[in-house]
Amino acid sequence: MDLTLSLSKGEVRRTGDIMTFRTLDTADLAGKRALVRVDFNVPVDGGKVADDTRLRAALPTIAYLSKQGAKVVLLAHFDRPKGKVVPEMSLSFVAEPLSKLLEQPVAFASDCVGPAAAEVVNALENGGVALLENVRFHAGEEKNDPDFAKALAANGDVYVNDAFSAAHRAHASTEGLAHLLPAYPGLSMQRELEALDAALGKPKKPVIGIVGGSKVSTKLDLLNNLVAKLDRLAIGGGMANTFLFAQGHDVGASLCEKDLADTAREIMDKAKAAGCELLLPVDVVVAKKVAPGVETAVRQLNEVQADDLILDAGPESAQRLLAAMDESATLIWNGPLGVFEVPPFDEATVSAAKHAGKLASEGKIVAVAGGGDTVSALNHAGVAAEMTFVSTAGGAFLEWMEGKTLPGVAALEG
Ligand code: 3PG
Repeated sequence: MDLTLSLSKGEVRRTGDIMTFRTLDTADLAGKRALVRVDFNVPVDGGKVADDTRLRAALPTIAYLSKQGAKVVLLAHFDRPKGKVVPEMSLSFVAEPLSKLLEQPVAFASDCVGPAAAEVVNALENGGVALLENVRFHAGEEKNDPDFAKALAANGDVYVNDAFSAAHRAHASTEGLAHLLPAYPGLSMQRELEALDAALGKPKKPVIGIVGGSKVSTKLDLLNNLVAKLDRLAIGGGMANTFLFAQGHDVGASLCEKDLADTAREIMDKAKAAGCELLLPVDVVVAKKVAPGVETAVRQLNEVQADDLILDAGPESAQRLLAAMDESATLIWNGPLGVFEVPPFDEATVSAAKHAGKLASEGKIVAVAGGGDTVSALNHAGVAAEMTFVSTAGGAFLEWMEGKTLPGVAALEG
């Protein structure tokens, strides 16, 4: 397994105009207990890890700390036990697959604080790794209770946060601890912050965004933030219907939040004032129902019939988006352009994804994408590996794209 590290030397790393943070390579780690917040909130099937992406994401940091002679103490949450011990939400099932991936033993402690945790941590040799039980078994975690944070800190000399995908939570293990111990981003967190900075903090211009998905209502903050920052913004998926409706087009029986027409018009006005060109579909793919292989038609915007469902952007819209990508230096993408899970309504998403992957692998564009559906869509198109960076964070990626401060990131500033 390749655990090659891409540590850059330097006292501090600057990301955008937002923050500076110490990098892990400046830490004195030999013999120290490193409390590492990871995100092991993994999908499970039959009591087993169904997708180990999040375990793999933590490997470089764990391996680096271990190699430096630190005692690696892993903190994580699993599911939402709401401050109580829920045996089915124990993290114990993660220790073995993690140990296999790391190719070294991983001790497990039945509590994340108190004597059970101390016993396991004290038994660690330099370079050893321990995983502590679900931090959310204690109510103090989500309350960011200072006493609980202190109890966690008792098992560490330094704090490393490698859980970008939980950084939108101001909890004791994601935020509170950073104020109690010397704090560093882990290598995955650092990589994520640098990639996100390259996309929205200090991007190469022009920058194009693609925002898709079903509802405008879930992405209002996102759209408002992006139109103020980007040169172009393509809107796709069900949410594009609301914009088309707001422009006076008939969207037939399609998903459409008609009550948000005024909001859509405000966003269009804001984009115009900020000099952000909005790319809305100019043609659409329709069907009478959502099912694989149903009869479809391509319609111009003035041809949509009363019982039509708009389920994808049309070919001309897709071509325009590809041409706009050719003229851009940076792409940031969240959300599919159509109902990509049901072919043939995946065509616009797949053609845009393939083009983004091609431009990124040729070094012509910095392409950053994130969010659960987006990752699935890129995997479906077979181009996730070609993108410059794909964030597997859901809520945290969205909040970052919305321009919000992530408490777990802000607390690392120093
Ligand atoms: C996630 O799975 O997105 C993160 O681990 C955050 O989990 P949460 O939404 O339960 O805080």
